[in-house]
Amino acid sequence: MSFDEIVRLGQQRGFFFKTAESYPNTPAGFLDYGPQGVALKNRVVELWRRSVVKRDGMLEIDGAEILPRAVFEASGHLESFTDPFVKCAKCGSVFRPDKLIEEKTGEAVPEKLTDSEYDQLMERSGVKCLRCGSRLFGTSRFNMMFKVGIGPSQEEAYLRPETCQSIFVDFPLLFKTQRAKLPVGVAQVGRSFRNEIAPRQALIRLRELNQAEVEVFFNPKRADDDRFDGALGKSLAFRLPDGTDARMTLAEAREKGVVPSKLAGHYLALIAGFYEEAGIREDSVRFRVLAEEDRAFYSKAAYDLEVKLSWGWVELVACNYRGDYDLGGHARVSGSNFTVDDEGEKVLPHVFELSLGIDRSVFALMESSMGGEGERRVMALRPYLSPTQVCVFPLVNKDGLQEAAKGIFEELRESFDAFYDESGGIGRRYARADEAGVPACVTVDYDTLKDGTVTLRDRDTRAQERVSVAVLKGRLASITSYPPIGKRKPGR
Ligand code: GLY
Repeated sequence: MSFDEIVRLGQQRGFFFKTAESYPNTPAGFLDYGPQGVALKNRVVELWRRSVVKRDGMLEIDGAEILPRAVFEASGHLESFTDPFVKCAKCGSVFRPDKLIEEKTGEAVPEKLTDSEYDQLMERSGVKCLRCGSRLFGTSRFNMMFKVGIGPSQEEAYLRPETCQSIFVDFPLLFKTQRAKLPVGVAQVGRSFRNEIAPRQALIRLRELNQAEVEVFFNPKRADDDRFDGALGKSLAFRLPDGTDARMTLAEAREKGVVPSKLAGHYLALIAGFYEEAGIREDSVRFRVLAEEDRAFYSKAAYDLEVKLSWGWVELVACNYRGDYDLGGHARVSGSNFTVDDEGEKVLPHVFELSLGIDRSVFALMESSMGGEGERRVMALRPYLSPTQVCVFPLVNKDGLQEAAKGIFEELRESFDAFYDESGGIGRRYARADEAGVPACVTVDYDTLKDGTVTLRDRDTRAQERVSVAVLKGRLASITSYPPIGKRKPGR
């Protein structure tokens, strides 16, 4: 399904809407989730908690969205969280020069060019203003943080551009109060805010976005401990900085220096496992290894987990080895102590990060699960992710079937996300349920009144079986339950 078709389906079926749609001049990059989207988003987060946070024995926090200036001075965001922009001297339209060049030439542009290098490249590639066709020049930098003022004195603060800064700032207290030991992962789900220059694709580039981030704190001398050997046999696909593709085990990746440590490999395998459990096919996932010039300013090694969608590879998770950049910066600016004890050694921990974009993941799951043949469209989400878990239908709207169906619906909705539908023919109702990803439909017919059975229809096979109402809850529970939490990693 194309990007535009998914956006249309998302709007028609109540997954998401453009923010303040009734006001035509609302800026782009904001999105409201509708009931189906909220449910899918919550289930994606719940699966992440099970597959990543609980599986690995991590701690979870929920930090404030507004943080004082000093935090972003220490984090480097005040100085370095910028994107290049160019303003048309004739019509005033604003663009990202790198995006315009990429669109014109079809080739990726390195992230760390100077302003004049962008100007030269625009000139050489024949990039012109998309609105009025004028020559573009005068690239400059724009800090993408949203500034806010606290209280009447308007004390300078910012909406966080990534959730992880609270994790870094809270780390010493967390380590102490939770009696943690290295290595320890700290996770957080929440909103971040980025004043993107020209966001275009809904859910892919938002100014207000949902992230699920993990920061793993570890002693760099122990990043190759055998406690991480469990993942070495796992094979992952890499896109290397020279543009070649290579599938290799994590043991090979460690040996060749594609990953900096066994610990890094363990966490790449963990996040790849999450997408497998979410239903993304293994051959549609790869890790793009970023060259030095393409990495974020805090990153020593970076891997973008990308998923292949109908219009190309899309980044869903940024995995970064951040070294001691963050804790070192906060120690320096705050004057506080960020070292901890690791078996008698005083250590300033290093960090490996998994920064997952929730909105992008929701969108990718919708797109990659769309299938069907002919006119039939099916969103074959894993049943434990489906926003609506069961639909209940009376076969016809007479002879007491509606009352019986409503009674069953009322009972089911105590335990499941259930939807009652009596409008239109039964085939049309199944089609609507398939398109919205509902894994099971229950139909009440004349036999129900006689023997207390209903038909239970499977979305994917369309098979129908006769099931007693008495066992319906148990059957639905087994259809929609999450996969069990795996074992914690060895040595913890
Ligand atoms: N914390 C990394 C990111 O937000 O991209």
